[in-house]
This record gives sequence, structure tokens and C-alpha cells, in this order.
Amino acid sequence: MSQQLEKVKELIELREKARMGGGQKGIDSQHAKGKYTARERINMLLDEGSFEEFDMFMTHRCTNFGMEKKTYLGDGVVTGYGTIAGRLVYVFAQDFTVIGGSLSETLAQKICKVMDMAMKNGAPCIGLNDSGGARIQEGVNALAGYSEIFERNILASGVVPQISAILGPCAGGAVYSPALTDFIIMSEGTSYMFLTGPAVVKQVTGETVTQEELGGATVHATKSGVAQFKAPTEEDAIATIRDLLSYLPQNNMEEPPYLPTEDPIDRKEDSLNEIIPDSPNAPYDMYEVIGAIVDDGKFLEVHKDYAKNIIVGFGRFGGTAVGIVANQPKYLAGVLDINASRKGARFVRFCDAFNIPVVTLVDVPGFLPGTQQEYGGIIVHGAKLLYAYGEATIPKVTVTLRKSYGGSHIVMSCKQLRGDINYAWPTANIAVMGAEGAVAVLYAKEIKAEEDPAKQKELAEAKKKEYNDLFCNPYNAAKYGYIDDVIEPRNTRFRIIRALEQLSTKKLSNPAKKHDNLPL
Ligand code: HXC
Repeated sequence: MSQQLEKVKELIELREKARMGGGQKGIDSQHAKGKYTARERINMLLDEGSFEEFDMFMTHRCTNFGMEKKTYLGDGVVTGYGTIAGRLVYVFAQDFTVIGGSLSETLAQKICKVMDMAMKNGAPCIGLNDSGGARIQEGVNALAGYSEIFERNILASGVVPQISAILGPCAGGAVYSPALTDFIIMSEGTSYMFLTGPAVVKQVTGETVTQEELGGATVHATKSGVAQFKAPTEEDAIATIRDLLSYLPQNNMEEPPYLPTEDPIDRKEDSLNEIIPDSPNAPYDMYEVIGAIVDDGKFLEVHKDYAKNIIVGFGRFGGTAVGIVANQPKYLAGVLDINASRKGARFVRFCDAFNIPVVTLVDVPGFLPGTQQEYGGIIVHGAKLLYAYGEATIPKVTVTLRKSYGGSHIVMSCKQLRGDINYAWPTANIAVMGAEGAVAVLYAKEIKAEEDPAKQKELAEAKKKEYNDLFCNPYNAAKYGYIDDVIEPRNTRFRIIRALEQLSTKKLSNPAKKHDNLPL
């Protein structure tokens, strides 16, 4: 064999060794836990055969605690680039089979390299997390590695989409890298995120809690809102990443991808002409409205199980990817509370950062009253949503279906707060408040002055009718130009598509500043 052939053989053998990560035992243990290996995950994520790997031969340099005898080619993370639906992405996948995927200085360098490449080339960066956290033997070098990753997460924020899948442990300060990214997807039953684990919790607070109860996928998707998605399996988690990217541009200088559709742009949806119940307090399902108007009824919901009183997610209108924000009358009457405000604000800001138009469907009775909300700072959290819509320069199309009262009217992308096109259904009620509340405030004394309860009721009803006739309709707002048109509900899809087409050349910028001071 020639020397060259021998060297080629050696390369092939080294590659094989690197591909085995921590070895067959570790791979078997990973599979036994119902988890895939880093390489299997990357293969699932990327278009077949598109993966190009970096730094397969990097190893750590730590000699503490006999670590020099514990080196593995690639050191606990697989990094590189490939394509998803033909579009470039950068990826890193922590390899739990190598020292628990724990983060060494070297491992951090590998991750930082792909993040830098993602920024240089304007492409999304996807992290598949499965790690025991900072490599304990490396001490401050591991912590320094995290800091360098965080720095890149921060600088890349709003420049390229950053997506984190949590497919195993993610604990301690390590959680902050995913938390700095745009979307977190957690696999059910096999992943968890927390700052301090159950043992420390027990020690400090006396509370007994399992890993799953403390930081499993369900907890973060429903209670904390840390995770935007939870997926029943790793396959689903990875499919969600692919689906999500189909709505996103590669970076903040590009437009979101256009996907031609067979769904007619002028499709009329007769069911929408009868969807609003006669009683103003009766609920209906906003998902039915969204499903009826978007291309092919396809909607990728974000934060599905968190703050269900507001719905946010991605859909398409005539092929154009948009963000959709909608109040959900079926859940807490669609009221805006702290969690709904935070959820909506984060989503609108993401869309604005990445040039994704926002369509807002309004049916909102107001902000949720009460000490719990006030003590929790609803003023500041509600202001986030207000701020997010107000600062956004993307095209904004709003359709008011039913209620739009007071502060919540302004917050939900109203015309005066930089809404571009604002339509209303004939069932819209745009006012300072509903008739019930208004009459109670304005006519309390007169009603009380009537001694006969029947007379009291009669007077209240008469006043409510007077109020409803004047304010609780779309025409009062239309009279002042606050509503651009009152539209037939069944034409909503067509009218939104037309509005978005018209706004596709919109140019608007905010005053130059170092950065804003969003009410955090
Ligand atoms: C070094 C680690 C490690 C770590 C795991 N391993 N975590 N080595 N540093 N942080 C090693 C284990 O020693 C073991 O090595 C192998 O990885 C697999 O781990 P197991 O414990 O056998 O796996 P499992 O039973 O599945 O338990 C997984 C685990 C546990 C729950 C993650 O390993 C664990 O509790 N690890 C420590 C977690 C932690 O406290 N990390 C620090 C968080 S603070 P062998 O040789 O036996 O196979 C942090 C600060 C970040 O990260 C700060 C950022 C600013």
C-alpha cells in the first residue's frame, strides 16, 4: 500500500472513530433511554446527504482529574452545516455519549464556530441540546465557554433565527443559551430544563419534586412558557423545526419564503357569516376562523398550551408567510392577562425582527382585573404588547370580529398605533367598554333612584340600547376612519390577502437609537 493510501486509510479510520462518539456502550445507553444520538438527530433534521461536519478531530485540553486519558474525537458535540428544504442552516448537536455532552472549553469553541459561520453567512442556527452542563473537571474554562456562547446568542438575536431543541438534560446556567434563542422545542418525557435540580430544591426549600414536575416539557409548555413547543417524540420535535423554518427568512435582511398555493385567494368562507353567536358573552372558537382563512387551513401554532386566551402562530395568505395573533373567546373570554400579553409581545417582536407581516384577529373584552394581575405587574406586561405592536414596522393587518374595548382595543394593533389596514366585521363592537359596564358607570344614580326593580331594569335596558346603538358597532369607528372598511366575514381571506399585497412594499423605520427601553 502506498504511503498516501495508508494516510487515506488512517483518515477513514479516524472518521469512523469520531462517528462512534463515546462508544457503542454510550450509544446503546442513549437508545435504551428512548433517545437518539447526536448524529442520528442531525440526519433526521437535515436534507439527506447535505451535512458537512466541522471539527471532527478536535479534542479537549484538560488534564485535571486524569482527563487526559478521557479524550474523544469531536469532544461531545457534532457541528456543521447542511440544508433544510434546500436552504442553508448551521447546526450543533450535543453528544451525550461523550462525558454526558458536558460543555468543555473545546466544545464551546466548536459551537461558537458554527454560530459565527451562521452570522457571517446569514443563515439560521439550530442547537440540539442534550448535556450534563458545564464540564465539572474544567472549572472556569467551561464557564468561560458558556459566556462565549451567550455572547453570540445575544449578538445573533434578531439577525438570524436561532432555534433550540431540548432533547435531554439542560440544567444550571446552561439553560440560558436556549433561553436567549427565538424558539425552544422540548421532547416530552426525555428532556428537562431547570436552574437547580430536585436535590437542591429539596435542600433549600424542603419541596419534594421530580425532574419532570420541575422542568419537563409539559411544565415549560404550559406553566412557565419557557418552551414554545413540546413534542411527543424526538421525531416530532425535529419535524417542528423543519416546519417552523418554512415560515422564516434566512436572516433579518431577507423576506420570509413564499410558497405558492392552490388555495384560491378569493375563496369565500360562508361559515364565517354565521360564526358570531347572538349573545355577546357566548364563546366561539377562533381556531375555526384561522383555519378558514389561511392557505389550505394550515397553521403552525406557537405556545399552543400557554396563555390560551391568545393564539399566536404562523400561517400563509396567498403564499405569503405571516404571523397571526388572535384573541380566543373560548378561553377566559379572550381576556388579556399577564401571560397573554407577554406571549403576544414576544411573538410580534420576533415577526418584526424578521420582516414577517402580522395579521391580528381581535375579539377582546379587556385586560383581566384583580389584585393578582395588578400585583403581578399587568401594567408593565400589558405595555410590552402595546410596545411590540407600536414599534413594529412590518405590515400589520387587523380584523376586528367582535369586541374591542378600551386599552385592549389600542393594544391589539389599532389604527392609531401604526396599524396599516384595519377592517371590522359588522358584528364588531369598538368602544371604551361594553354596554353593561358603561351603563353601570354612567347611570348608576338614575337607575338606583327608581324604586320599582322592574322600572330599574327597564331603564338600564333602555340605556344599554342607546349605548349599543351609538358605540357598540363598527360604524362609529368607521365614521372617524379608525376602521378602513367594514367587511363581510366570508370575504376575510381575500381582503387580508389584498391588504398584504398592497403592503408588500411598505417602508417605515424608527428613530435611530442605541436600543429601546422596552418595559421589561
Ligand atoms: C462532567 C459529566 C457531567 C458534567 C455528566 N457527566 N454531567 N461530567 N461534567 N457536568 C458524565 C457523568 O460523570 C458520566 O460519566 C456521563 O457523563 C453520563 O452521565 P450519567 O450521570 O451516567 O448519566 P445520567 O444518569 O443520565 O444522568 C445525567 C445527569 C447527571 C442528570 C445530567 O449526569 C448529572 O446530574 N450531571 C451533573 C449535572 C450538573 O450539575 N451540571 C452542572 C450544572 S451547572 P461516566 O464516565 O460515568 O460515563 C452548569 C453551569 C453552567 O452547567 C453555567 C453557565 C453560565
